[in-house]
Amino acid sequence: MASTTLLPLLLLLLLLLISTVKPTTLQPHLTTTASTNNIPPTTYFEVTKPIQLPNTKPCSTHVLSHDFASTYGRPPVTAQYAPPSNCPSNNFNKIVLQWTATSKGRQFDRIFGVWLGGVELLRSCTAEPRATGIEWTVKKDITRYYPLLMTNQTLAVYIGNIVDTTYTGVYHVNVSFHFYPSVKFNHLHHQWADLIIPISKNLPLTDGLWFKLENSTDVESKQFSIPQNAYKAVLEVYVSFHENDEFWPTNVPNEYIYDNNLTGFAGNGPFREVVVSLDGGVIGAIWPFTVVYTGGVNPLLWRPITGIGSFDLPTYDIEITPFLGTVLDGKSHDFAFSVTNALNVWYIDANLHVWLDEKRDKTHGKLLTQNISPLRVSLVSDYTGLNGTFVTKVTRSIKSTGWVQSSFGKIVTESTQEFNYSNIMVMANDGDSQTVDQMIEFNDSVSAKKPSSVHLKQSLKSFSFYIYSDTEEKGNGSFAQVANVTLGFNEKKVDNSGSKSSSSVLENVQKGQGSMLVKGNLVVSGLGSTQQKYDYGDNKLCYFRDISSSNYTIIYDKEGHTCSKSKESRFNSFN
Ligand SMILES: *[C@@H]1O[C@H](CO)[C@@H](O)[C@H](O)[C@H]1NC(C)=O
Ligand SMILES: *[C@@H]1O[C@H](CO)[C@@H](O)[C@H](O)[C@H]1NC(C)=O
Ligand SMILES: *[C@@H]1O[C@H](CO)[C@@H](O)[C@H](O)[C@H]1NC(C)=O
Ligand SMILES: *[C@@H]1O[C@H](CO)[C@@H](O)[C@H](O)[C@H]1NC(C)=O
Ligand SMILES: *[C@@H]1O[C@H](CO)[C@@H](O)[C@H](O)[C@H]1NC(C)=O
Ligand SMILES: *[C@@H]1O[C@H](CO)[C@@H](O)[C@H](O)[C@H]1NC(C)=O
Ligand SMILES: *[C@@H]1O[C@H](CO)[C@@H](O)[C@H](O)[C@H]1NC(C)=O
Ligand SMILES: *[C@@H]1O[C@H](CO)[C@@H](O)[C@H](O)[C@H]1NC(C)=O
Ligand SMILES: *[C@@H]1O[C@H](CO)[C@@H](O)[C@H](O)[C@H]1NC(C)=O
Ligand SMILES: *[C@@H]1O[C@H](CO)[C@@H](O)[C@H](O)[C@H]1NC(C)=O
Repeated sequence: MASTTLLPLLLLLLLLLISTVKPTTLQPHLTTTASTNNIPPTTYFEVTKPIQLPNTKPCSTHVLSHDFASTYGRPPVTAQYAPPSNCPSNNFNKIVLQWTATSKGRQFDRIFGVWLGGVELLRSCTAEPRATGIEWTVKKDITRYYPLLMTNQTLAVYIGNIVDTTYTGVYHVNVSFHFYPSVKFNHLHHQWADLIIPISKNLPLTDGLWFKLENSTDVESKQFSIPQNAYKAVLEVYVSFHENDEFWPTNVPNEYIYDNNLTGFAGNGPFREVVVSLDGGVIGAIWPFTVVYTGGVNPLLWRPITGIGSFDLPTYDIEITPFLGTVLDGKSHDFAFSVTNALNVWYIDANLHVWLDEKRDKTHGKLLTQNISPLRVSLVSDYTGLNGTFVTKVTRSIKSTGWVQSSFGKIVTESTQEFNYSNIMVMANDGDSQTVDQMIEFNDSVSAKKPSSVHLKQSLKSFSFYIYSDTEEKGNGSFAQVANVTLGFNEKKVDNSGSKSSSSVLENVQKGQGSMLVKGNLVVSGLGSTQQKYDYGDNKLCYFRDISSSNYTIIYDKEGHTCSKSKESRFNSFN
């Protein structure tokens, strides 16, 4: 009996499981008619705050145009990049990457990356096209890559797309960089590093430049060496999860699979942690935000408002400065990545941002203390057959202290990461229905102490994920599914250097309700509705958007730049 009642869920999972060659998510069935040519393309978008731009005319460089058709397993598309040469100024205070793409027909959501000189600039997911065509634009502030953007480099873009008679969507892509010249430019007060070292795979390749982590014991590493006059370093990590781990918060414990003799289920439970090591020792961790790609859960939820982070996946910074003393010897060292409980497959790479002491050939430093609490995991399972509840709670903290002596003096840097995770999973209807309520708290703080001053930077993130899904087998290899989803990405930041202090608050919550009838891996019919509230405030900018869509149509859209009273008080109370 179990195997028949489980069939719908199994089917769904099997579709999501199909090897790397195959798409990872569903996309709606299309009825192509001859008249679709007259209908304008639908514009998809991710709700986010506008990039704050200086009041100067940008110098724009078109860096790549390509039609991505059968690109799976092929080398990334490359172009030679040169910095803008005929700009009125050669100093810029904002640089923006613009990705614009169109597609028409039927296609899966494809993960892609953009790299410059091996340094990843953007990790993203394509939008799924429709018969009448779609277009979308992603803009990303890439000013932090400034030194790289001032040199000739090879640009590489990889999308693993497959085009055949069923999956017809080709992605037509343009990439350009917009350089906003600065009126007054102060070399000493910029935020960006002097050097950015790629911690990614080297070209030539027939894939993205990311490392692929296939299981919980897989460790992928890269050697690097840094100039001996570095005084500060930050590792920026790019992470995305696919196939068996695409929906990792919904993965069931293995005991549930074994006890019920299930096949095709994604297991290892719902907890994942990306672990970053330097020369074999753990230096930091990432408990990632649960990005849902544009074909995820129910593709109709993400049309035209796409999931939080799906067009511009979040990256995570790990402070390396406490460890600098161990890598300033001019020798080669290695960064390694692993993922606790991973199932196939995670795509991970990183950029090492390094600040150099212009006045010295050599700096030196020492790691003073390191405290890594082991993962404290508690799992409470209570199930009979396929019905039951699983409660997973995990905490961890990682604290490192070290000093670096440079022309700025002897600076003691203390980096602390604190994590808290809770996941409550309820399986009902003999496994056909699943409810998951997950919360991640991810706090980072870095303090840089000189005898005379302290510079404190904090980022307090909370990531919420809720899903309710119910699947009903309809016979004929088809099933009906209803699903509710809630995604929340909240972050408070403080940057306090005594004389200067800034802070920001973001609350970004998305709710969706979907229903669909699926046959094969095509959505035959269905409906998706999404509501999103985005509320951001910092010392200079307030931005909110309250928006909703249903069945491709925007139902309401309120946008504003005024700081709400409640936000101001929230903002103030945080200081
Ligand atoms: C960078 O590329 C441009 C355009 O191809 C070329 O004119 C220039 O000489 C190159 N600069 C360097 C430093 O190689
Ligand atoms: C890309 O740029 C070319 C040249 O400006 C333009 O003809 C084409 O429509 C653009 N394609 C997209 C997808 O924006
Ligand atoms: C994990 O993945 C690595 C890399 O593909 C592979 O060598 C290893 O055999 C795998 N381990 C298990 C237990 O499957
Ligand atoms: C699982 O398989 C074992 C051995 O084949 C069998 O004894 C057990 O009853 C099965 N359990 C279920 C829930 O089907
Ligand atoms: C994160 O920081 C907030 C604010 O200080 C605190 O309330 C919360 O307990 C912290 N969470 C963790 C996991 O450290
Ligand atoms: C971590 O989460 C648990 C339950 O979810 C809560 O009781 C505890 O206070 C949290 N700890 C911190 C530091 O936030
Ligand atoms: C599992 O729960 C459903 C209700 O969600 C119930 O109808 C079914 O009988 C339960 N199965 C077992 C084996 O208890
Ligand atoms: C199963 O599919 C066949 C052929 O597509 C169709 O004739 C039949 O009505 C379907 N049955 C059900 C129960 O959907
Ligand atoms: C799903 O969403 C609908 C519409 O908001 C709501 O009525 C229903 O109670 C939700 N169900 C669950 C289990 O979350
Ligand atoms: C969705 O909108 C289309 C027109 O764009 C309409 O034909 C269809 O009936 C709508 N679906 C639902 C479930 O409302």
